[in-house]
Amino acid sequence: MTRRTPVIAGNWKMNTTPDEGKELAIGIASGCDQLDGVEVIVCPPFTGLAAAAEATANSAISVGAQNISSEPSGAFTGEISAAMLEGLVTHVIVGHSERRALYGETDEQIAAKAVAAAAAGLSPIVCVGESLEVRQSGQAIEFVENQLRESLSGYTAWNQLIVAYEPVWAIGTGEAATPQQAQEIIAAIRAGISGIAGDEHASRTRVLYGGSVNSTNIGPFMDRPDIDGALVGGASLKSDEFVGIVEVAARLSAEAS
Ligand code: PGA
Repeated sequence: MTRRTPVIAGNWKMNTTPDEGKELAIGIASGCDQLDGVEVIVCPPFTGLAAAAEATANSAISVGAQNISSEPSGAFTGEISAAMLEGLVTHVIVGHSERRALYGETDEQIAAKAVAAAAAGLSPIVCVGESLEVRQSGQAIEFVENQLRESLSGYTAWNQLIVAYEPVWAIGTGEAATPQQAQEIIAAIRAGISGIAGDEHASRTRVLYGGSVNSTNIGPFMDRPDIDGALVGGASLKSDEFVGIVEVAARLSAEAS
């Protein structure tokens, strides 16, 4: 079986001034200093990217953006292109459920963003996940499979891709999915990638779980065969808590190798 390096990514959402973000990034970088075997990514808002990039420059921590435009440049007031992030970030979240729900982003737009990110050399973290209604209707697997396929339409940079399964009902609610629920969908996501790109890419792609992850509940997720880490919201805003998540992932990764 392919060994995949686990990923713990922190999505700070619309929080932190540049100074606050710098402090948070420094705390995370120093807390993770001695931890091996886990890729750690922090995703501040655009205004905090420069400070976070500077704060983590001499560490193993990577920096990601929370969104990008699918357009390369031009008359798109308020938008930020992948090219504009050069030198600041290595990753970018695309298709977060808040972008989909609050700003009407479609699978088609998200696919264009993922393609634009990869073309600029960035690793897109493509988010998918079903609502509570879809879960209760018993259609979660089919829904996520379809969302994944549509959100990766035209995408080819398989070595750069990270996928995050984030059920909408688990985000910010304190009610995480069970590791079994996450494993079931993430196995389907991996099968979906295999169908699009082949087994080799499917077995190499890191697929994360996201939704109310903290340092107490992360362990059982990491123990599941298809779950390669977490996309963390609320708990990524406290350096101790976020480092605690990375510590568990690092310990389990060391035990597994
Ligand atoms: P949460 O957010 O960890 O606060 O539930 C996760 C996310 O939105 O990525």
